[in-house]
Formats: sequence, C-alpha cells, structure tokens
Amino acid sequence: MRKKLVAGNWKMHGSLQQNAALLERIRAGVSGLACDVAVCPPYPYLGQVQGLLSGSDVAWGAQSLSEHSAGAFTGEVSAAMLVEFGCRYVLVGHSERRALYGETDVAVAAKFEAAQRAGLVPVLCVGETLAEREAGLTGDVVARQVSAILDCSGVVAMASAVVAYEPVWAIGTGLTASPEQAQAVHAAIRAQVAAMDVEVAKGLRILYGGSVKPQNAKELFGRADIDGGLIGGAALVADDFLAICLAAN
Ligand code: PGA
Repeated sequence: MRKKLVAGNWKMHGSLQQNAALLERIRAGVSGLACDVAVCPPYPYLGQVQGLLSGSDVAWGAQSLSEHSAGAFTGEVSAAMLVEFGCRYVLVGHSERRALYGETDVAVAAKFEAAQRAGLVPVLCVGETLAEREAGLTGDVVARQVSAILDCSGVVAMASAVVAYEPVWAIGTGLTASPEQAQAVHAAIRAQVAAMDVEVAKGLRILYGGSVKPQNAKELFGRADIDGGLIGGAALVADDFLAICLAAN
C-alpha cells in the first residue's frame, strides 16, 4: 500500500506572521494522521518553517532548486542549501517554472538529478495545457515529460521520487480534472514506469494537483492510482488544507 502524501505549494505567498499562524494550525491538526503531509514555502521562510515544524509530523520542502551544486549563479539556490534547512522534498518542473521561466525537460531532468544527489525527494510535476488536451495530446505530453527523467536518471530513480500530475488548465483556475480524467493519466504514468520496472511502479506515489479543494479531495484520492495531492491555493487556508489532509487519511 502506498502511503498518501498531501503537499502544500505556497508559491510566492506568505509572511513571517501569516506563516507562523498557518503552521501552528497545521502542526496541531495533522498530528497522528496516517498520511504524509508537507509544506513548500518560498525559500526565505525555510529557516522559519524548520524552526516551527522540527519534531512534528509535517515535513517541508522547496519549490525549485538549481541544477548546479555551487558557483556564480546569481539568484539560485542549491540542493545542499535546502538540505541544511531540513528539506525532505523539492518540486521540480512545476508548470509555472516551465511556462514562466523557460524550464525545459532537459533542465528539469538536471534539477531532478541534483535533488537526488543531495538526498532530497524530487516531486516531478507534469501536465498538459488546455490546447494540448483539446488536441488529444495529453498522453504524449505527459509521457514525454516522464521520459525525460527516465532517460536521464533511469527508472530506479523513481523509487525515491514522487510524481505530481497537474493539468495546467486546472491550476489556480477552479477547474479540476474529473476523478476519471485524473485516474486515466495517473494509470498511464504508472504503466509507463511499470514497462521498465514493475516494483518501482507499484511503489511510486503519483499526486494530483490542480484546484484540489476540501469538496473534491476525497473523490480524487479514492481513485486507485491517485496517491494524494499537490495543493496550491487551498494550502494557504488552514481549515481547507487540514480538510484535504483528512480526506487523504
Ligand atoms: P492550485 O495549485 O491548487 O491553486 O490549483 C496547484 C499547484 O500549482 O501546485
């Protein structure tokens, strides 16, 4: 049985004061739950999060990282730095990074590798745009994004990674993939990995992301290949995030 994971992607939101209030509620609310829970704040708050969540049932991670280990890369943050702040996870290839900052499959694969070299668990984000879905290209796009990692790191790398399927048209829009739509893509991702290694595929956690809310979480998480969620907007509201965690429990 794969343990469910609910991870909050705070994006560029928060303040010291807001974070403290939110984390206090989350820390208390998830104590003893059977699922894994994590939050991914902006970089500057990782120290605060580490201080407030150490010893709790909530893990934390970053939203991106550099593919380089150190050097003249102004504005970048290395995997080793994230490890120093106690991160367990790091998102790679979020669609906003791909679309707004030009991250290619090749760059995402390099970041994935850098994360694993440092002992972090990469959360590989994949998903199609609305135009791609309407053109019937969902399967091809997602398979290409997953292949970029399999080609570069090998299937065994997936044994210590998480995948998040996030249809771009569902992110922050209030539109959610139906449980059937999401399940179909999740099953295809698992089959793609299984074609190379059945055991790795069986253990791989595949999260759904894109307007997950307390109202739709339970139905999504009830599908065979949906192993939890990557939560944006609802991760900033303690009651909503906790309700989603409970739905995964
Ligand atoms: P959303 O974001 O839940 O606000 O749609 C999800 C994500 O981008 O990870």
